[in-house]
Amino acid sequence: MARVAIVTGGTRGIGEAISIALRDAGVTVAANYAGNEEKARQFSERTRIKAYRWDVSDLDSCLAGVGQVEEELGPVDVLVNNAGITRDGTMKRMTRQMWDEVIDVNLGGCFNMAKAVWNGMNERKYGRIVNIGSINGQAGQYGQVNYAAAKSGIHGFTKALAQEGARAGITVNAIAPGYIDTEMVAAVPQDVLEKIVARIPVGRLGHAEEIARGVAFLCSEDAGFVTGSTLSINGGQHMY
Ligand code: CAA
Repeated sequence: MARVAIVTGGTRGIGEAISIALRDAGVTVAANYAGNEEKARQFSERTRIKAYRWDVSDLDSCLAGVGQVEEELGPVDVLVNNAGITRDGTMKRMTRQMWDEVIDVNLGGCFNMAKAVWNGMNERKYGRIVNIGSINGQAGQYGQVNYAAAKSGIHGFTKALAQEGARAGITVNAIAPGYIDTEMVAAVPQDVLEKIVARIPVGRLGHAEEIARGVAFLCSEDAGFVTGSTLSINGGQHMY
């Protein structure tokens, strides 16, 4: 039987590339999305991957969503915590709401989703969890105290959970993407983005597929001895 994976935020951007890479590796994929119904419909039509709507920042919705996926596709062996949002602004302008939204989705979402699949993975003695962190969680970024804190938290979460899962055959790893040519990065003001790209040794933005290939490796049977690690894929922008 094919392994079953859930990719959060799996219908757009980096998540879409991850869903496709896992599908191409023979995994049955459920792509979760939060709100963009039209994009999700087009994604499913194009890829033949089923899309499921729920809010990762809400634990009960995650429990229900995972329950539905398991009923329709089978037990979940692979979880990719990819869903993420930005609410950029300097500390002067950042509101408590901008802080909470980013922490709740980017970091709280990882907890909620891991919680929803954890018991099943432990019972079956197999699991692959990959959390999408960020270069900005490793190095910080002007205008992103909320996002940097959430992504940095993901790296700590990964290392702690890896220790809890190791004896049960569950690996937990993180990928720290640099600046990738997605809608999220396109929203950065052009002049700011040009300065950022000038500091990338490889000299360009990354492609979503370049992240997805790393995720596919960490989710494969071959990666059983890799756990608690962070794979940085950032064109050399931050060597960590
Ligand atoms: N270092 C020093 N100063 C900086 C700076 C930097 N890196 N970036 C901006 N500034 C300065 C500006 O020059 C400006 O200065 P002046 O007021 O003297 O002209 C000031 O900061 C901007 O102040 P504002 O009050 O206008 O700032 P703001 O609250 O509106 O926020 C900003 C502006 C949101 C920080 C904007 O500069 C920005 O979007 N920066 C990019 C943030 C970024 O990289 N986000 C990543 C999104 S993609 C992602 O997150 C994916 C991933 O994982 C990599």
